[in-house]
Amino acid sequence: MMRNVFFVLLIVLVSCNNAEDKKYETTQQAPAISAVDGERLFKSQCASCHKPDKDFTGPAIKGSLERWGDKKALYEFIRRPWLSISKNSYAKKLFTKWKSVMTGFNLSDKEIDAILAYCDFYGPVPDNKIKSNP
Ligand code: HEC
Repeated sequence: MMRNVFFVLLIVLVSCNNAEDKKYETTQQAPAISAVDGERLFKSQCASCHKPDKDFTGPAIKGSLERWGDKKALYEFIRRPWLSISKNSYAKKLFTKWKSVMTGFNLSDKEIDAILAYCDFYGPVPDNKIKSNP
């Protein structure tokens, strides 16, 4: 009897662990990603539509995090743009301006960190600030 109880407990414990693992899969279990990977990932997955520092088929990526001001929302947008456009007001504005929906990318937080860092350090900072009339 005790043995059975122990067995059930063990199964419960193991399944709880699995659930935790799933939750953190993208952040904690991702292998170490370096800036070089940011360049590689950007060039292989994003460069067909984006340039780091200039508008192209999609907007310049440099400074995105600053424009969004919300890392979670931005990363969600990169993973599921259509969903983000349906609920985030900044994503809606992007869609209105660019008139197309980006494809979603199944990337970990670390991979997105690396891509954004690569773009943020690429070339001079564009002067996108809206100037008020003197
Ligand atoms: C098929 C073309 C395409 C590809 C490939 C693509 N994007 Fe996009 N991206 C767009 C378009 C178009 C927009 C404008 C928003 C919208 O309507 O989806 C956009 C918007 C963005 C924005 C918001 C920029 C801002 O000014 O706030 C980010 C960040 C972004 N993309 C990152 C990426 C990353 C990272 C990749 C590669 C993993 C990627 N994109 C690949 C087309 C693309």
